[in-house]
Amino acid sequence: MTAASPAGERPAVVLGVAGGIAAYKAAELLRRFTESGHDVTVVPTASALEFVGAPTWEALSGKQVATEVFENITDVPHVRIGQQADLVVVAPATANTLARAAHGLADDLLTNTLLTARCPVVFAPAMHTEMWEHPATQANVATLRARGAIVIEPAEGRLTGADTGKGRLPEPTEIFELCVDVLARGTVADALDLQGRRVVVSAGGTREYLDPVRFLGNRSSGLQGYAIARAAAARGADVTLVAANVSLPDPAGVTVVRVETTGQLREAVLTAAKDADAVVMAAAPADFRPAEVSEDKIKKAADGSAPSLGLVQNPDILHELSTGRPRAASVIVGFAAETGDATGSVLDLARAKLARKGCDLLVVNDVSGGAVFGSTENQAVILGSDGTSREVPTAAKRVLAHVIWDEVAARMST
Ligand code: CTP
Repeated sequence: MTAASPAGERPAVVLGVAGGIAAYKAAELLRRFTESGHDVTVVPTASALEFVGAPTWEALSGKQVATEVFENITDVPHVRIGQQADLVVVAPATANTLARAAHGLADDLLTNTLLTARCPVVFAPAMHTEMWEHPATQANVATLRARGAIVIEPAEGRLTGADTGKGRLPEPTEIFELCVDVLARGTVADALDLQGRRVVVSAGGTREYLDPVRFLGNRSSGLQGYAIARAAAARGADVTLVAANVSLPDPAGVTVVRVETTGQLREAVLTAAKDADAVVMAAAPADFRPAEVSEDKIKKAADGSAPSLGLVQNPDILHELSTGRPRAASVIVGFAAETGDATGSVLDLARAKLARKGCDLLVVNDVSGGAVFGSTENQAVILGSDGTSREVPTAAKRVLAHVIWDEVAARMST
């Protein structure tokens, strides 16, 4: 029935392109796939070819493209393309293509492919806000999700004309990253173990202002938190990412709430956590803030003296989430960037922190030497409040992200 690529062969990706103005962005997505060693078959709809012609798809994929089932008929493409795929991604997916897919129509090569594919299927919708919000489209999206497809929430922003709103295609790089995550997890059942779950992730480092232009901050880049949010979206979760001062593109399909200070981070996380299944606190909130914030820029004193800074402690969000009654979410994850000291090793201190914070899992990074900040790799030990300990050797931050979700998924209430 299914025919995923044998080991060593290039993963087979079908890129379905529907007829929307965002079709031009699919050319960039195609490049990402081919340049990273994927074997891509592009299946545009007839109306997609009104926006971007066949020569573009053929030049970038190195293969002929067809839109109808009666082309290249000796290859039986309407069956073969779907059967041999490891992943089908439809980007952009228009309201019409979502409707055809939801209702099982088979009136062109793309819809035939969707019916024959048994691999994970990702839809990246793009359309005007009204069309996205229409009950018919929402019902079709719900049907597709219930059948195991990943339908990425569209991004907000400028649409085709002068109007803005929800309905933009997420950045091609972000759709690509999500697809790579989905591909790495293989089968539909494995890929979508967080389907129907609501999760909250915090990322980045907070800023505590002294005056309108100066702040106390830290070196957190947000890369690990973004990888965690992206991995959850790739596993089908509904993800809210609370981002403190991060300059990375929004992960595809993730709702991003931007904050600056620890106070704002607390508000945003507690609000989003209300009906969440899991919260991962990957952010580095400042532990202290200036006792007073000057409304005007602090000036240098003529006598050369420096102002003294009074600091007050910020609320501990992780502790509040974990110990609040009712508890914020069924699984709560904290991070600890530790160095050992005279009182104990990194792991001794981390175990004590896990108990103090009251969370279920603590992801412990040994940051002696500042190794983790801004790096694309990470290594960690994940401690469980149930006494478990899992070591994750140095690997891409996305690998650690998936191990964290494996541990969370195993602890989620059914
Ligand atoms: N954290 C939080 N609120 C804070 C500070 C930290 O929610 N005000 C969370 C972080 O997001 C992280 C975890 O707590 O998940 C550990 O942060 P860390 O700074 O190591 O903890 P501290 O409480 O500052 O511990 P220490 O006693 O070592 O200062």
